[in-house]
Amino acid sequence: MSIPSRVQIIDVGPRDGLQNEKSPVPAEVKLGLVHRLQEAGLQEIEVTSFVSPKWVPQMADNLEVMAGLERKHGVRYSVLTPNLQGYTAAVKTHPDEIVVFGSASEAFSRKNINCSIAESIERFAPVVEAALAAGLAVRGAMSCTVGCPYEGEVAPQQVAYLAGLMKGIGVQRVDVADTIGVGTPRTVQRAIEATLQHYGIDEVSGHFHDTYGQALANTLAALELGVWNFQSSVAGLGGCPYAKGATGNVSTEDLVFMLHGMGIETGIDLDKLVDAGAYISDYLGRKPNSRVAVALLNKRA
Ligand code: HMG
Ligand code: MG
Repeated sequence: MSIPSRVQIIDVGPRDGLQNEKSPVPAEVKLGLVHRLQEAGLQEIEVTSFVSPKWVPQMADNLEVMAGLERKHGVRYSVLTPNLQGYTAAVKTHPDEIVVFGSASEAFSRKNINCSIAESIERFAPVVEAALAAGLAVRGAMSCTVGCPYEGEVAPQQVAYLAGLMKGIGVQRVDVADTIGVGTPRTVQRAIEATLQHYGIDEVSGHFHDTYGQALANTLAALELGVWNFQSSVAGLGGCPYAKGATGNVSTEDLVFMLHGMGIETGIDLDKLVDAGAYISDYLGRKPNSRVAVALLNKRA
């Protein structure tokens, strides 16, 4: 199979990235980031999550962030909703897509959303039904598809099982997430192949954390299978609060640099993307966690 000529990127920085920041980031700064990302050409942005503020305090300003969005035509804004309570609050803010999030590992499901995999699907089912009835798109994030911080290696069969459950309740597309970044090209390919038992190639995206520096290699491995949807965080922000030691997603800057270098279109302006990453990194008082961003910023200086 030849690799795709175009890739669609969802920047998850405002949500997956910022959720792990210890000090509160003001809604205004989050909005500044979202607006710079859309200015850079991102067509999909994961804006926030409607989860318990006791569990993830950083996302407690979800209403304010959604209310402050200056929506750009053609951009899809998504939000995480773990249950009907989250969905009910989220739907009033008019997201384009809601994201239910499950895990291929039982232990991570319990740590992250306080229920078993089977229970999580029971909670997601009415959310998915309501969202589809309201005309919203529905995505399912599948965590720990390669490794789990509590259970170790995760078998492809567990990924296929979760993908089948997601399909069964009507989730339209799914993310194969390597939450703790332990995947390497062949293990990631096996997780994707397991997902392809239930979803078509156009409905599968790669969500690779770069904890062990494998995310670009894993992206290439996914491209080789024909995957053309990926998630990344501007400035390499992030990590998951329930996956100790896990660092951010692959940075959007590194991903775009690699894809453009391969002649793959993304619709993203790398210079403007670097500006977006510099904006949030300046606010956080550190350098972007992106080799490409640092190189380009050094070149500018
Ligand atoms: P729970 O405690 O089992 O929920 O939490 P509950 O239904 O028993 O309710 C307990 C309390 O939470 C109640 O409040 C509810 O009102 C409140 P109290 O009466 O005690 O004051 N509550 C909520 N509040 C706001 N929004 C809601 C909501 N639901 C209940 N939606 C729950 C279950 C899922 C809510 C909780 O475990 C939670 O919020 N977990 C946070 C999960 C999270 O955000 N994790 C990070 C995102 S996932 C991720 O990063 C991975 C991903 O990037 C892919 C990858 O890399 O793997 C997507
Ligand atoms: Mg993640």
